[in-house]
Amino acid sequence: MRPTTSLSLSLLSTLLLLPISTLAAFTGEAEADGVKFDFTQLKTHSVVVEHKQDPTVLKSNYTINPTGKLEVIKDEKDQCPDGTQVCMISRLWRGDKPDDGAEKVIPFGSIESPKDLEPEYTIMRDEEKKVLGLNVTFHGPEYGDKKQSAIVKFLCDPELTGLEEPDKDGKGTNALKFISYEGEQVATLEWRTKYACEKVLETPAPSQGSWGFFTWFIVIAFLVVAAYLIFGSWFNYNKYGARGWDLLPHSDTLRDLPYLIKDFLRRAVNTFQGSGGRGGYSAI
Ligand SMILES: *[C@@H]1O[C@H](CO)[C@@H](O)[C@H](O)[C@H]1NC(C)=O
Ligand SMILES: *[C@@H]1O[C@H](CO)[C@@H](O)[C@H](O)[C@H]1NC(C)=O
Repeated sequence: MRPTTSLSLSLLSTLLLLPISTLAAFTGEAEADGVKFDFTQLKTHSVVVEHKQDPTVLKSNYTINPTGKLEVIKDEKDQCPDGTQVCMISRLWRGDKPDDGAEKVIPFGSIESPKDLEPEYTIMRDEEKKVLGLNVTFHGPEYGDKKQSAIVKFLCDPELTGLEEPDKDGKGTNALKFISYEGEQVATLEWRTKYACEKVLETPAPSQGSWGFFTWFIVIAFLVVAAYLIFGSWFNYNKYGARGWDLLPHSDTLRDLPYLIKDFLRRAVNTFQGSGGRGGYSAI
């Protein structure tokens, strides 16, 4: 009875574990309206937005991991709880120094949130039905009595991988943009990336105008053979006064060709059968 028990136990634990591991997470892959999106090439990315509040500046840093939970940094007190997928940390800056301790740490969307808080996916299209990207809504826990959520619009941009970041001085493109944080509860971000473009099945375009290597090869081979035959015939005609089939160079060989091929094939078949017979299989 023991094997049966352990088998059903492992089966039970598998059944119990399965829904937990697939719970509510956005793993970078999603399907909406029959279109598949794959953002697994993207990595954790941040965008910082500044609000001047003379004499201080409030800097809010939004960080998102498109494939799972954000990494937990050891010995760092200001961070979102383990399992968070989109996190905002804001700090007050005086002069060029941040205050000790964060103003706010707000998680939007966690891979450990219950099933009914799963992220929502909606495809975005223009009037001509062309795919603009994917709208992913993360539903977070509450913060200050307000249920938080983050809308991340993955927008198709063939020019950007989505990993682009500004340099240390804050110059350069950031593929991730902060749009708004409405009513202290809905954060909206835009992420421009080629991975949000609808994949068009790549049919190799027929190379018009230019001939491929193979075409050239055939044409040149044909010309060489033709030149050989013409020159050879002319040579035989002049030198030996040949006529008809005898005009062709190597006319003997050409005439024998069918027999040569047949002979070659027969030898090949014999060799094949011979070695096969030695293989050690005996008929029953
Ligand atoms: C924003 O937060 C992320 C994750 O904690 C960090 O790696 C990044 O350096 C921060 N960016 C700025 C400009 O502080
Ligand atoms: C994205 O989805 C949210 C709901 O999840 C919706 O309120 C919002 O209008 C959508 N935005 C676009 C551009 O489709």
